Amino acid sequence: PVKYRKDYKPSAYLIHETKLDFDLFDDHSIVTARLKLQANPNADPSDSLVLDGEELKLLEIFINGQKLESAQYETDSEQLTVWLDKVHNLNYQQNSFELMTKVRIYPNTNTSLEGLYLSNGKFCTQCEAEGFRKITYYSDRPDVMSIFTVRIEAAQQKYPHLLSNGNQTEHGKLANGRHYAIWHDPFRKPSYLFALCAGNYDLLEDHFKTQSGRKIKLEIYVDKGKLEQCHHAMASLKKAMAWDEEVFGLEYDLDIYMVVAVGDFNMGAMENKGLNIFNTKYVLAHSDTATDQDFEDVEAVIAHEYFHNWTGNRVTCRDWFQLSLKEGLTVFRDQQFTADQTDHAVKRIEDVKVIRSHQFAEDAGPMAHPIRPDSYIEMNNFYTVTVYNKGAEIIRMYHTLLGAGGFRHGMDLYFERHDGQAVTCEDFVCAMEDANEYDLKQFRRWYSQAGTPELTVTSEYDELHRKLTLHVKQTCPDTPGQSNKQPFHIPLKLGLLDKEGKDLPLQLAANPEQLTGDILHITQLEQSFEFTEIAQQPVLSLLRNFSAPVRLHYDYNDHELAFLFAHDSDPFNQWEAGQRLFARVIWQLCAEQEAGEVMQFPLHLVNAVQNLLSSESLDGRFKALALTLPDIKALIEEVERVNLDHLIVAHNFLKKELACQLEMDWLVHYQANHHVGKFQQDKTSIAQRAFAGVCLSYLVALEKPKAYELAVSQLLNSNNMTDAETGLKLLMHSNYEDKQQLADDFYQKWQNEDLVVNKWFMSQATDPSDPTIERVETLIEHPAFDLKNPNKVRAVVGAFAGANLAQFHRKDGQGYVFLAEQIKRLYSVNPQTAARLTGAFNRWKKFDDERQRLMCEQLQGILQLPDLSKDVYEIASKALG
Ligand code: ARG
Ligand code: ZN
Repeated sequence: PVKYRKDYKPSAYLIHETKLDFDLFDDHSIVTARLKLQANPNADPSDSLVLDGEELKLLEIFINGQKLESAQYETDSEQLTVWLDKVHNLNYQQNSFELMTKVRIYPNTNTSLEGLYLSNGKFCTQCEAEGFRKITYYSDRPDVMSIFTVRIEAAQQKYPHLLSNGNQTEHGKLANGRHYAIWHDPFRKPSYLFALCAGNYDLLEDHFKTQSGRKIKLEIYVDKGKLEQCHHAMASLKKAMAWDEEVFGLEYDLDIYMVVAVGDFNMGAMENKGLNIFNTKYVLAHSDTATDQDFEDVEAVIAHEYFHNWTGNRVTCRDWFQLSLKEGLTVFRDQQFTADQTDHAVKRIEDVKVIRSHQFAEDAGPMAHPIRPDSYIEMNNFYTVTVYNKGAEIIRMYHTLLGAGGFRHGMDLYFERHDGQAVTCEDFVCAMEDANEYDLKQFRRWYSQAGTPELTVTSEYDELHRKLTLHVKQTCPDTPGQSNKQPFHIPLKLGLLDKEGKDLPLQLAANPEQLTGDILHITQLEQSFEFTEIAQQPVLSLLRNFSAPVRLHYDYNDHELAFLFAHDSDPFNQWEAGQRLFARVIWQLCAEQEAGEVMQFPLHLVNAVQNLLSSESLDGRFKALALTLPDIKALIEEVERVNLDHLIVAHNFLKKELACQLEMDWLVHYQANHHVGKFQQDKTSIAQRAFAGVCLSYLVALEKPKAYELAVSQLLNSNNMTDAETGLKLLMHSNYEDKQQLADDFYQKWQNEDLVVNKWFMSQATDPSDPTIERVETLIEHPAFDLKNPNKVRAVVGAFAGANLAQFHRKDGQGYVFLAEQIKRLYSVNPQTAARLTGAFNRWKKFDDERQRLMCEQLQGILQLPDLSKDVYEIASKALG
């Protein structure tokens, strides 16, 4: 059952009004829907009305007050079909008509966390992408937009808060201890933006005054007892609202904005109109229980969902193939927001790390798809780093090509044209194009072609004519279903550094249109560019700020990299040069092992690292990033096949050597940056904690009692979770002899804070040492573990399979067996989360023959499971190819 983008057809019927009645009970709910339907003038006429519906028990069905007979309609496991031509006196081609259905559903046994479900004694919904059909019969597609009025009825004691989208228009008491509320949303919206919450929450209230002077009520609903952990989310929301007004001129449109936090949630959060529903992980934050990174993540996700109100809700997607229209754009917006709140270089580096470790892997694997996919089996499998993060990189390239002003003009035109509509990625490109009179014909290929383009650059310097020639070649590997790709329009931001490290002015000898400022336009498979007036042989700083999501090959020598690391004015490339230096050493160490030689530590690194450590001008967070060795996952993506054992040994060797060579430096800087006094969370303190944490990680790599003492002391004496978690993780990943005792004590202390317990789970599941497999086996039996809770599953199983390369890829295959067993336990409970876990097998082709065989064996076993969900089926079957 594959769905194709090319098969798009407008819906035969539109739904002008949607009236929903929810009668909520502990063991079931009754949903009555009254839909005002009309034949779509822009679609082929149809005599039958087909609505989506899954896991619904149809109790009643009426059209215009007429009860339907069994010969007039039919239901199966996915649809309701009404033969309108068999309904008496119904002029369905001309007039609008009302369909009333009453269904029974079971939120209490709904473990898929899609549709309406009971979690922790509270009702909530998740409808994107296609969950609304588990609530009632409906045209569950984003281009069918409707005005919703929702009545909720439930027991007052247990469910004092009854929430839905828009404004509350009425509420009251009923007999039998029940009460009700009515909500009306004045904005037309697709079903995926519908939300309902009912429960007994603690409530944090505030307000925001918009630039035009409207006062918006802000409300955050959380589990009882968690109010103290909501203030950061509230402050973040207000910042996001102000930022969107300032940067994009976008103001909030309803009088109330609500956020509800739930512990059981498949994803991060959901932008339902006026009623966002969040994973607790992205709302709750207090310095006792949340790290600096958690604080930043909360701020980013709160902003992301808020920004969706315009990019997603006011202008939505025509169909799910267009998902990146809202997600790529909204991720770009939240990235810019976070950069403005924190540090542009640091944020850029963090975002690129995600691209390189995760998106490049996806783009090179069996699930590779363009940011606008052409087909899918299960839409939920396409909420990917490609659609989201590569999508954001594509949006960023408009910003790079058109400038901040041009980008803003494009956005303005996009809203002017499409406010209130469900549109396509093509509509967005046209707005950018028309607002700037800029030709984006070739640029459109970023939407249709999957795979990571590779740029290979060579250079020649001609001293006599003071000329530098760049030869640039672009290729893009074949991906499933796509070969022989056409060249992309790639903005290559660059600088040419003179001997002092200063940027030389850029000027082309011919075709000046190929250079805009410091952006070189790469548009052909092979191109050469001649820069004139270059007085001395420069050092090349290429792909500054990671101006395009590509792999860049340029044959740097160590000297050039050290020079860039020390001098590049582009902080991203400065970091990049350091990472390249490290990566070269790691690959060299691998080669030495391959050849049976003793590994040699290259002393030239010591100087570069020492300079960085003691730099007074660099930010602590930047230093932390620059001192962190390249991620093994990203390194694996640099080669065709990997010898994982050698790679891990090389990585550890380099870390330990750097630790030894600079032991005193790590200690001095640790002591200078680690503070035990009053907790502060200003930029300087955050930077110091990040820097101190990396210093401590090198010290712990020494495996000396003194270093362990420091980590233990940081873990036990810290007054904040950032320091505590750093200490915990480092110790759990070390061979410190009392680590089990520390783990037990940590659990004792934090057992009532789920999010902290997840950190505890994760730090143990990612321990690279051998007994970890037995450890995770006991962790999933631990009373705090719950297979039905995705955060817990991610903290143990997800972390083990995704972030513990050494143990997941154990030679005996036990890591693979463990993962497959968990998928087997989970696939019918929560298909979405099970499918995510299955993705850990996607890169099997990168490994040695024996590991390949062991992984395939598990994938085959998964495919054999009875009643396999289509979510898991799609991932596993594509992985095997
Ligand atoms: N639109 C949400 C966000 O990006 C994500 C919801 C995805 N949910 C899902 N089940 N696929 O903020
Ligand atoms: Zn989103």
